[in-house]
Amino acid sequence: MSTAPRRIAIFGATSRIATEAARLWLARGVNLVLIARNAERLRMLDDDLVLRGGGLAEVNVVTADLGEPEALPALWTSLIERFPDLDAVLIAHGTLPNQRRCEADPEVMLEAMRVNALSAMALLTAIANDFEARGSGTIGVIGSVAGDRGRRNRYVYGAAKGMLALFLQGLRTRLHEKGVRVITIKPALVTTPMTQDFDRQGPLWSRPERVARGIVRAFGGRGNVVYLPWFWRPVTWAIHLIPEGIFKRLALAR
Ligand SMILES: NC(=O)c1ccc[n+]([C@@H]2O[C@H](COP(=O)([O-])OP(=O)(O)OC[C@H]3O[C@@H](n4cnc5c(N)ncnc54)[C@H](OP(=O)(O)O)[C@@H]3O)[C@@H](O)[C@H]2O)c1
Repeated sequence: MSTAPRRIAIFGATSRIATEAARLWLARGVNLVLIARNAERLRMLDDDLVLRGGGLAEVNVVTADLGEPEALPALWTSLIERFPDLDAVLIAHGTLPNQRRCEADPEVMLEAMRVNALSAMALLTAIANDFEARGSGTIGVIGSVAGDRGRRNRYVYGAAKGMLALFLQGLRTRLHEKGVRVITIKPALVTTPMTQDFDRQGPLWSRPERVARGIVRAFGGRGNVVYLPWFWRPVTWAIHLIPEGIFKRLALAR
């Protein structure tokens, strides 16, 4: 149950965090199937990986928009037919929606839910059935600490990640006796393109390389819910304990 993958499919592979994880896995000889929507950036990532670790393992790329949940089970079927030895999956794609636009326009809010929650859940439904039938496999999904408590300025993104976390919890419960691991990965403040408009000063910010090391470690370990870096677990727990009547008045809740 705690072995490192041999061939992993990475959805949203051009994400900064996923790219760093792909580099680490390649260095360990793990074969990679990289799925992302931007063909040019995917080609550049492929070139970069071949340059760094060509010969260590296979790198294959697949271009696909991951924002259409209905299309994703068929995408998974095509992947597993082409790469029947896929034994692990990392779902990394996501967007940080503009909260004000989500508040103003239900369509924008729904789109945020589709990309950040429903697309992963559609993929997971297909992947889970294949791994369950086989009796093995590791599934890792990047959620967020934002999914642990609703906040004024980020609750649409938080709700999507929270829904995903609950879905993964149930899936883990279903699959744990079937030889399939389900890992919920919860980073917090990471210096990636997603947070480029933030003021990224202070000790709570982490580099994507650090988070990627934690992800790769998690795939070889036994954890179920992994906070990255680790200190976010006690921080999030402490925040969780604040009563709602107080929390809604705090600057922390923004
Ligand atoms: N950065 C943080 O502070 C932080 C904290 C907690 C959790 N996370 C989560 O970590 C994961 C990785 O994000 P990141 O920080 O590495 O940011 P990032 O570099 O901006 O990566 C986001 C990725 O999602 C992809 N994506 C978005 N919509 C897509 C779609 N419809 N189809 C295919 N790909 C799509 C983007 O592709 P394009 O390049 O084509 O747009 C991009 O590669 C996300 O799930 C994010 O929610 C990040």
